[in-house]
Amino acid sequence: MEVVIKSDYEEMCRAAAHVVADILNTKPDAVLGLATGSTPLGVYKELVRLHQEEGIDFSQVTTFNLDEYVGLSINDSQSYHHFMHENFFKHVNIPVQNIYIPSGTTRNYQAFCQWYEHRIEECGGIDVQILGIGTDGHIAFNEPTSSLSSRTRLKTLEKQTINDNARFFENRDDVPIYAITMGVGTILEAKQIVLLASGKSKATVVAASVEGPVTSMITASALQMHPSTLFFVDEEAGSELKMREYYDWVQEKKPDSPQA
Ligand code: PGA
Repeated sequence: MEVVIKSDYEEMCRAAAHVVADILNTKPDAVLGLATGSTPLGVYKELVRLHQEEGIDFSQVTTFNLDEYVGLSINDSQSYHHFMHENFFKHVNIPVQNIYIPSGTTRNYQAFCQWYEHRIEECGGIDVQILGIGTDGHIAFNEPTSSLSSRTRLKTLEKQTINDNARFFENRDDVPIYAITMGVGTILEAKQIVLLASGKSKATVVAASVEGPVTSMITASALQMHPSTLFFVDEEAGSELKMREYYDWVQEKKPDSPQA
C-alpha cells in the first residue's frame, strides 16, 4: 500500500485522475471501476477536463460501478445511475453499452449479482478501481463484518451510513436501507486500486485502515492485502497517521523522482 498525502482535496483528486489517465494512455480499452459519493467528484471533474481540453479518449473504455441503492430507478435523482450520468458520463465519450452499474430495480438480485460478477470477468477484470471510504470504514457498501472475500450481493446499510448519506436526501427516512454492492473479494481482484479520503471526519478510519489490523470491522483494511493500492488522502484525512513522516519520505525518495 502506498499512502500519498496531498495538501488539499483538489490536488489529491488531480493526482488520482492522473493515475487513471496514465493507465488509459497505455491501455485505451481499460476497464475502470467507478465509485460514487462526494469524494470522487473532483476526480471526475479532472478526467472531464482532461477529455475536453487535452483529448483523453474514453471511446474504448468499459466501466463498472461499485454499487446502487435498492429500490431507486435509474431516473431517480438520488440513484447512482443519475449521479454517474450527471457528473461523468454525459461529459465524456464512453459508449453507453460499455457502462455497467448495478441495478437497483431487478426482480432477481441473486441472478443479477452473479451476472454482474460474470460480466466483470468477461471484460478481463478491472484495471483500476476508484474507491471512497465511509466513516465506518466501508469500501463500496461493504459494511462492518462483511466477509473479506464477499462478492457482489445485496447488503443492508448500517445506521451510520444511512445518517452520513441522509445529507443527499430530503428526509432521513428517504435513504434506502438496502444496496447492491460489489464485495470486498470483487474489489480486491482489481489490478490497481485508487482510494481517496478527504476531511477530518475520515482521519480516524483512514489511520485504522492503513495502520491497524486487517479486520472485517473496517473493510477498507482488507486493502492491506492488495498488491497495488494507492491510498490518497488530504492533510485532514491523513492527520492521524502515525507513520506520516515515512509516507512523505517514500514519495520524496521515489526511484524515478529527480532527488533519487
Ligand atoms: P463520501 O462517501 O465520499 O460521500 O464521504 C464515501 C463512501 O461512503 O464510500
